[in-house]
Amino acid sequence: MEQFDAVIIGAGAAGLFCAAQAGQAGCRVLVLDNGKKPGRKILMSGGGRCNFTNLYVEPAAYLSENPHFCKSALARYTQWDFIELVGKHGIAWHEKTLGQLFCDDSAQQIVDMLMAECEKGSVTLRLRTEVLSIERDDNGYTLQLNGAEVKTPKLVIATGGLSMPGLGATPFGYKVAEQFGLNVLPTRAGLVPFTLHKPLLEQLQTLSGVAVPSVVTAENGVTFRENILFTHRGLSGPAVLQISSYWQPGEWVSVNLLPDTDLSAFLNAQREAHPNQSLKNTLAMLLPKRLVECLQELKQIPDATLKQLNGRQQQALEETLQNWRVQPNGTEGYRTAEVTLGGVDTHALSSRTMEARNVPGLYFIGEVVDVTGWLGGYNFQWAWASAWACAQAL
Ligand code: FDA
Repeated sequence: MEQFDAVIIGAGAAGLFCAAQAGQAGCRVLVLDNGKKPGRKILMSGGGRCNFTNLYVEPAAYLSENPHFCKSALARYTQWDFIELVGKHGIAWHEKTLGQLFCDDSAQQIVDMLMAECEKGSVTLRLRTEVLSIERDDNGYTLQLNGAEVKTPKLVIATGGLSMPGLGATPFGYKVAEQFGLNVLPTRAGLVPFTLHKPLLEQLQTLSGVAVPSVVTAENGVTFRENILFTHRGLSGPAVLQISSYWQPGEWVSVNLLPDTDLSAFLNAQREAHPNQSLKNTLAMLLPKRLVECLQELKQIPDATLKQLNGRQQQALEETLQNWRVQPNGTEGYRTAEVTLGGVDTHALSSRTMEARNVPGLYFIGEVVDVTGWLGGYNFQWAWASAWACAQAL
């Protein structure tokens, strides 16, 4: 039987960061993970360069049943704190777009940094370890592991969400929450590509790989401006991933493929200058040629010259290009989702420490909690901030 001041289950972003902070504050910490290596999602993140935070982190960039919950942790451990830590470790970084900060070199640097911070805090890390059972009595928690028993007064669940089961995602955290009587809100895939109904998919198949800067709007009015990407399964790209977190099955999304163009003014000016120019060639000045050709084959763009285009056709064209209404068939699901929406109900947790209100010594941090950020470094910042808040209480 071994005894630790705190046991953290999950050696991902939140678990490792929490362990390092608590260890450096003098806590004897054990981190357990069922995987072969720590920080597997970090290594995969940001195309291998880890988008580790965002310059514009604010609570409005997070989805939760309780939008106030994330405020305290995000305010106490900010993006600037993490940037400072990254700087201390000599990791060079750059802003790619929209405040998204990436390592210049590799996501491995973030994992190495977290491991070095854990070492500084004398954290014990055990990989390939299954937690078979957890029991609680007046003295704390007893964990049965494969081949060992561990006791601790403080147990931190940092096992993440359900996205990418191939990277070790399991529902373990939700089960622990339920075991101790905490409410778990329904989960669904977030930051995930849309799939399309077969007829539409077949029509758009030739567009696979085409990206268009667009504004995408969900039925509830939430809007994102970034690229959309046509794929062989449907629609992806940052604007689509973002809006997917606000989309419910059966709902429509509206896509403005020309958000910066006054189309009718543009067409009128072109018509005056080049009345015999084809509409197709005119639109190819604004949009990828493959997209224009595809829309013409689908009879969405009339086969006409500018002088032949009548008012009704022009209006219909504006609707097609600037308010293209798409009803996704679904999403690609957890297999490719970056995050999981829903999870441990924040009403059951302290926003200051992440401790379960009715279960002393039990904490939930990171993605397992019902706090989900936008694409762009927001989810890692939640992992760091919730981990830091928890570590102060261990
Ligand atoms: P995380 O998933 O990181 O860690 C959970 C750990 O628990 C894992 O090590 C897992 O093995 C372990 N575990 C699970 N079940 C267990 C069990 N039963 N027993 C023991 N251990 C168990 N975010 C962002 O801000 N910027 C980005 O660039 C990206 N990019 C990105 C790319 C891809 C491909 C994905 C899938 C996700 C992202 N994200 C992201 C999201 C980000 O990776 C995610 O929000 C954080 O990793 C969440 O951190 P956690 O520590 O909560 O979970």
